[in-house]
Amino acid sequence: MLRAGVIGCGYWGPNIIRNIDALPNVELTYIADLDSNQLESIKKKFPYVNTTTNYRDIIKDSSIDLVFIVTPVSTHYSFAKEALVSGKHVFVEKPLTDGSKTSLELCQLAESKNLVLMVGHTFVYSSAVRKMKEIIDTGEIGDVLYITSNRLNLGLYQNDINVLWDLAPHDISIVSYLLNGEIINVEAYGQRTVNPNLVDTAFLNLTFSNGEKVYIMNSWLYPEKIRKMVVVGTKGNIVYDDMEPENKVKVFNKHVELTCDKNGKYSYNYAQGGEYAPELVLREALFVELSHFADCVLNNQEPLTSGRKGLNVVKVLEKSDMLLNL
Ligand SMILES: NC(=O)c1ccc[n+]([C@@H]2O[C@H](COP(=O)([O-])OP(=O)(O)OC[C@H]3O[C@@H](n4cnc5c(N)ncnc54)[C@H](O)[C@@H]3O)[C@@H](O)[C@H]2O)c1
Repeated sequence: MLRAGVIGCGYWGPNIIRNIDALPNVELTYIADLDSNQLESIKKKFPYVNTTTNYRDIIKDSSIDLVFIVTPVSTHYSFAKEALVSGKHVFVEKPLTDGSKTSLELCQLAESKNLVLMVGHTFVYSSAVRKMKEIIDTGEIGDVLYITSNRLNLGLYQNDINVLWDLAPHDISIVSYLLNGEIINVEAYGQRTVNPNLVDTAFLNLTFSNGEKVYIMNSWLYPEKIRKMVVVGTKGNIVYDDMEPENKVKVFNKHVELTCDKNGKYSYNYAQGGEYAPELVLREALFVELSHFADCVLNNQEPLTSGRKGLNVVKVLEKSDMLLNL
């Protein structure tokens, strides 16, 4: 049995806590938050858990094996570093840290101490994203030409990070999982609409080494909640709408073929195939993610969303910052 401590129980922390509590091989032991009201409400649900307003109580507790960091991004580096130095395996919420230097340092520290460092790129563990990967890998939709991803809503405005650092880790981690190559080019455009110091609406374009293009739009200033990704391939397309209660993934066997006659005249053939919604396994992505973390610790394996994968996401975000500030 592994013993777990969680730092941070604001908006997202209670979801992590509920899922850790359901893991068969992990004992939820300690929870820290600066806000004693948050701790009190957590204690009502999990009365057997120790609580503290000093996160170092968790890091110094030699009986704790796993530390989960679910605090604002600016704290991730120092909390994770202290936990790794104390010999704990660390799960850090996305993004890994607020810069590539600190992310790299955490990866190297974990590697040198043979500890597991994992980043909470939750969507990579969702049934919908797993299904999309399976369909792409079978070749059913041909070669991927481009992907669009829209993650939009009214709020929640963050104070310490712009909209890309908040939302794009999801899009970047999903497309990096779906496509096998490396990101070789980053373009970013954005606007500071409500707060003159904070980009709240942004476009991030990525080029992968195999030529696929990815077009991401993120906004906190949009009237509807949209979580939609479209994968366009040479033989077919996948539409993933996370707001759909059922049939989140749909496959369309449609494509366009270009032909050129002997006089050099182009014509377009529209192949209209059928469409279907593949069956998805009903499992909470967060539970799959946290089980994977515990399994990696127990079996000394590298997680799918390792520190190194988290570092790659941070590098893209850092590049986007440079471009947005030009
Ligand atoms: N994977 C996902 O889908 C997902 C979704 C939402 C948030 N997140 C991530 O989770 C993290 C937390 O986000 P949130 O929305 O819950 O933020 P939040 O502000 O609601 O909660 C953060 C909590 O951390 C506590 N905290 C801050 N400093 C602390 C300290 N020194 N010691 C102890 N506690 C401290 C705060 O009191 C607060 O309760 C972020 O990294 C965010 O990106 C991930």
